[in-house]
Amino acid sequence: MSRAGLAYRLQALTDRLRGLDYLDVVEVEEAGLDPKLAKRSSPTSPWFLRAVLPELGDVTGRAVLDIGCGKGQAMRVLRSAPFRRVDGLELGPGLVRTARANLRGSAARRSEVFEADACTFDRYGDYDVLYMFNPFPGPVMEQVAAAVQEQRRGPLTVIYNTPSAEAELLANLDVTRVSDHPSAGTNRIVVYRRA
Ligand SMILES: C[S@@+](CC[C@H](N)C(=O)[O-])C[C@H]1O[C@@H](n2cnc3c(N)ncnc32)[C@H](O)[C@@H]1O
Repeated sequence: MSRAGLAYRLQALTDRLRGLDYLDVVEVEEAGLDPKLAKRSSPTSPWFLRAVLPELGDVTGRAVLDIGCGKGQAMRVLRSAPFRRVDGLELGPGLVRTARANLRGSAARRSEVFEADACTFDRYGDYDVLYMFNPFPGPVMEQVAAAVQEQRRGPLTVIYNTPSAEAELLANLDVTRVSDHPSAGTNRIVVYRRA
């Protein structure tokens, strides 16, 4: 087994012992969502996302939102950086409950999980960094990117893991691609920015 695979299993075991559930995949139908409009809930690889974070520079005072936060795994990774806020929004009610249950102790002080549809969420203006791990297909991305464009003024960084709807993102939000981080497999994380 690879080192990453071993670390993943160890994390899953530690989580279970602590009564946490960040890592188990939930299929779209199981989450009560429409497979034509949403992707399944699966956790971000912590090593993959952590490797991109130095590129953001000093994040002290900045606020990040995970759009489609699932059970909160990416939020957990993002909380390892000194963001002022690490929030998430999620459409699946059961996933929201799990993410909120995972948010315990000190984590809860600077994190909130909103139960919301990314298409109609109305607080994008509060965040200068957005994270997504392949949450939805192109037609939904068109609406979400347009909502961000309308609400967010000023600097913006978008971190898009497995960017399956990149064309729709770029067609509706004025950000440009600044870096590309391929993983060992077929996944990649792309960073986009607007000054
Ligand atoms: C691949 S998972 C990513 C989970 C988490 N961001 C992470 O990286 O660990 C994508 C999530 O997006 C959620 N999602 C899909 N469509 C959504 C929408 N319109 N609004 C909010 N969340 C959505 C799904 O329910 C799923 O939990």
